[in-house]
Amino acid sequence: MNKQVRKAVIAGNWKMNKTPAETTALINEMKPLVAGADCDVVLCVPYVDIAAAVEAAKGSNIKIGAENVHFKASGAYTGEVSAEMLTACGVEYVVIGHSERRQYFGETDQTVNLRTLAAVNAGLKAIVCVGETLEQRELGYTETLLKYQTKMALTNVSKEQLENIIIAYEPVWAIGTGVTATAEQANEGNGFVRAAIAEVYGKDVAETVTVQYGGSMNAANAEELVAQEHVDGGLIGGASLKANDFSVIVKAASK
Ligand code: 13P
Repeated sequence: MNKQVRKAVIAGNWKMNKTPAETTALINEMKPLVAGADCDVVLCVPYVDIAAAVEAAKGSNIKIGAENVHFKASGAYTGEVSAEMLTACGVEYVVIGHSERRQYFGETDQTVNLRTLAAVNAGLKAIVCVGETLEQRELGYTETLLKYQTKMALTNVSKEQLENIIIAYEPVWAIGTGVTATAEQANEGNGFVRAAIAEVYGKDVAETVTVQYGGSMNAANAEELVAQEHVDGGLIGGASLKANDFSVIVKAASK
């Protein structure tokens, strides 16, 4: 298997944006624009918007995701949401280990791994984020770090469970900055992720895994990025809040 047969996944990460009413309006605007796409289309939205998003996306090719999930099934974990709660609401995907969670909310490689296991055990598709800071890149640690984060996130994940895992390479310096990785940097980073998967599961398995790029991907640069050998779609922040821009990215990944 190679890029020609791996299906691209374009996922929006809305972060802390949109009310339920705004969610309904934006998805209604997007639906006709992304209909018939030849890639998987996902919108990961805040917990409070999930019900509105699932309702608005009904009958369309848009799948709904959450932006995090807790690793325990239930209990005294104020403010957290379990994988079972998400699936019960019609959620199919979940973002795990986003750099904003790692940076601002104390997420570690261990908790990313636990959340990943909880998600796939509940039947969710996990979009697991990895990525280096600018400092780490300048020190020459990009490959080491991406391989470490990827392997840590996948600890105790079986080959079968890997089918429900997407890795998103998101260089921290490219997120929300307008500074996109070059196509070569994106392809190289995604290649490091795939190489890490190959080291654990073998090359044939690694060739089947969807590896996205994320970080200032937009309507203007998506086509070049998703054309790269190891880039199987994208995780989109800012541009996923605009129906037209998001649909241009979806179309770029459908070619
Ligand atoms: P931007 O597309 O806004 O840079 O965000 C990328 C991202 O963090 C997606 O998870």
